[in-house]
Amino acid sequence: MERKELQLQPRLQLLADLVPQGARLADIGTDHGYLPVWLLQRGRISFAIAADVGYEPLQHAVRTAQEQEVSGVEFRLCDGLRGITADEVDTVVIAGMGGETIIHILEAAEWTKMPGAYTLLLQPMTKAAELRRWLTDNGYYFTAERLVFDKDFIYPVMLVTGGEQPELTELQVRYGVDLDRDPLYGDYLQREIARLTKQIEGQRRAGDPEKRAQAEELAKLCAALEEKRKECVK
Ligand SMILES: C[S@@+](CC[C@H](N)C(=O)[O-])C[C@H]1O[C@@H](n2cnc3c(N)ncnc32)[C@H](O)[C@@H]1O
Repeated sequence: MERKELQLQPRLQLLADLVPQGARLADIGTDHGYLPVWLLQRGRISFAIAADVGYEPLQHAVRTAQEQEVSGVEFRLCDGLRGITADEVDTVVIAGMGGETIIHILEAAEWTKMPGAYTLLLQPMTKAAELRRWLTDNGYYFTAERLVFDKDFIYPVMLVTGGEQPELTELQVRYGVDLDRDPLYGDYLQREIARLTKQIEGQRRAGDPEKRAQAEELAKLCAALEEKRKECVK
């Protein structure tokens, strides 16, 4: 029977496209192992560690590699980067988890911030602003940021390496460091404006003066986002 070629969903496809050719990759929280298997299958990389803290997800990754007849993957059952040493890889992907989990994983692997030594591809599902703030306060530098649309959501993907980041504006921390030329940035901002507008309406209706004052602060933020969004569609 002919083997069905692995296809990636858009979120994983963008990550795959951003992995440098020939990288020695660690995919942390690999789950089904789609990303390393796809990259190895196409000869884009020749070595990958597929790591997961869960036994079941790691077994899924083993099965994906077997089904796709791909070799060159090492499977590691470990928490974050704890089972991986600095000399084994030059590229680390941590995707599909909350921003706080990504922070915990990096906190336990100081070696990842060695200046310019590693390419880190981070794709938080939540708390992107907290992650950006933590990265810049903790010795990481943004080389780029991108957006991807997948199943009705727009996700940021951060490319960082160790180094000193010039101070970010509040808008960059909240809504992306280097996204102005991204074709999805206008939509990304529009979704945020819609979310904030609802929140502002609710808070303005509240009897609590503190909530109403917060609503006015949010309205200022919303106006700044609207200005930025207009620049994107020019
Ligand atoms: C939603 S899946 C994401 C899979 C894939 N990375 C993606 O982006 O589609 C999250 C995976 O991360 C794993 N995970 C969560 N916390 C982890 C940690 N501290 N270390 C390693 N893996 C972790 C989970 O077991 C799960 O398999």
